[in-house]
Amino acid sequence: MKNLLVTGYGGFVAGSVVWQALRDRNWNVYALSLTENSEEKERFHCIQFDLCDAAKLKEVFCAVRPDAVVHTAALADIDYCQNNQDAAEKINVGVTRELAQLCSNVDSKLIVCSTDTVFDGGKGMYTEDDQPHALNFYADTKIRAEQIVRSTVARGVVTRLSLVMGLPVLGAGNSFLAKMFDSLKKGDQVKFPANEIRTPMDVITIGRAFLEIAAGDFVGTIHLAGSTRINRYEMACQIAEKLGFSRDLVVSTDSNATPGRAPQHNDASLYNSKAKNVLAVGATGERAAERSSVSRQARPASGLIYS
Ligand SMILES: NC(=O)c1ccc[n+]([C@@H]2O[C@H](COP(=O)([O-])OP(=O)(O)OC[C@H]3O[C@@H](n4cnc5c(N)ncnc54)[C@H](OP(=O)(O)O)[C@@H]3O)[C@@H](O)[C@H]2O)c1
Repeated sequence: MKNLLVTGYGGFVAGSVVWQALRDRNWNVYALSLTENSEEKERFHCIQFDLCDAAKLKEVFCAVRPDAVVHTAALADIDYCQNNQDAAEKINVGVTRELAQLCSNVDSKLIVCSTDTVFDGGKGMYTEDDQPHALNFYADTKIRAEQIVRSTVARGVVTRLSLVMGLPVLGAGNSFLAKMFDSLKKGDQVKFPANEIRTPMDVITIGRAFLEIAAGDFVGTIHLAGSTRINRYEMACQIAEKLGFSRDLVVSTDSNATPGRAPQHNDASLYNSKAKNVLAVGATGERAAERSSVSRQARPASGLIYS
C-alpha cells in the first residue's frame, strides 16, 4: 500500500482524486484541507491546516512520507488573484516551493495542477512545448510554480488543466456547472464569455489521470484537456439544452470588455495528444466521461454533450 498526499481536499479536482484513490484500494490517502473535516473512512485521513504554515506542512509531510503528492490547492479565481496578489503568491508559489523541496528531499513524486491560462491565448491549440506568457497575476504564479517543480523535483509532473467540467464528487469547490445548474433551476440567466475558447475535460477523467500518473513513471509536463475546442458561451448553451433548459437563459459576454476584470486569454485551447499517447486514461477517458453520471463534456464537433 502506498501513501498519497492530496492538497486542497475541499476543492473540486481533489474530491475526484480522493474518491478514486479510495476506490482503487492501492493507496492510503492523506487529504489536506483548509476547512474542518472530521470524516473517517478506511485508508483515509484528513488533516486540517493552512498550507502556508511551512512548519506544519513539513511536520505532516515527514509523518506521512508520501510516495506521491497531488497538489491541487491554490487560489484559482483569476480576478481574486489579481486583487490579492500577496495571498496568491503565498499559496500558488510559496506552498509549491515548500512541497517541491520536501518531495525532492525524499524523492517523492510531485504532481501539480497548472492551467491553460499560462498561455496568452493568441493562437490556441498549445502543445507542451509552446512558450507560456502570462496575461494576469494568476497565470504568472502558475508559470513560476511550474518552473519551481521542473528545477527542484526529479520526479515532478506539471499537469496543465483546461476548464474542468462536471459536478463535485466529494466536497464542493470550484464547479462552474454546479453554480450554473443552480441558477438555471431558479430561472436565472447565466453569463458566459464567447471570447474564451477552451478544451474542457471532465473531473472524473482528470482524477483518473492523476492517479495513473501518481502510480506510473511519467515525469515532465502534460496537458489534461478534452479533444473538443469550444467557446464558453456555446458550451454553456449546449449544457443548458442538455439539462432541459432554454439556451435563451444563457447570455453571451466578452470577458475582456468587462470593466474591472483581469485580462483573460481568448483562445487557450490545449493539444492533448501527449496525454493520449502516454496515459491509458487518455485513450479511454472520453468514453468513461460518457458513462459517468456526474460529468458533462461538451463536444461541438458532434453538437452533443455527453452525460
Ligand atoms: N477548475 C478548473 O476549471 C481549473 C482549470 C485549470 C486549472 N485548475 C487548477 O486546478 C487546481 C484545482 O482546482 P479546483 O477547481 O479544484 O480549485 P478549488 O475548487 O478552488 O479548490 C482549491 C482548494 O485549495 C485549497 N486551499 C486554498 N488555499 C489554501 C490554504 N492556504 N491552505 C490549504 N488549502 C488551501 C482549498 O481547499 P479546502 O477547501 O480543503 O480548504 C480549496 O478548496 C488549482 O490549482 C487550479 O489552479 C483548475
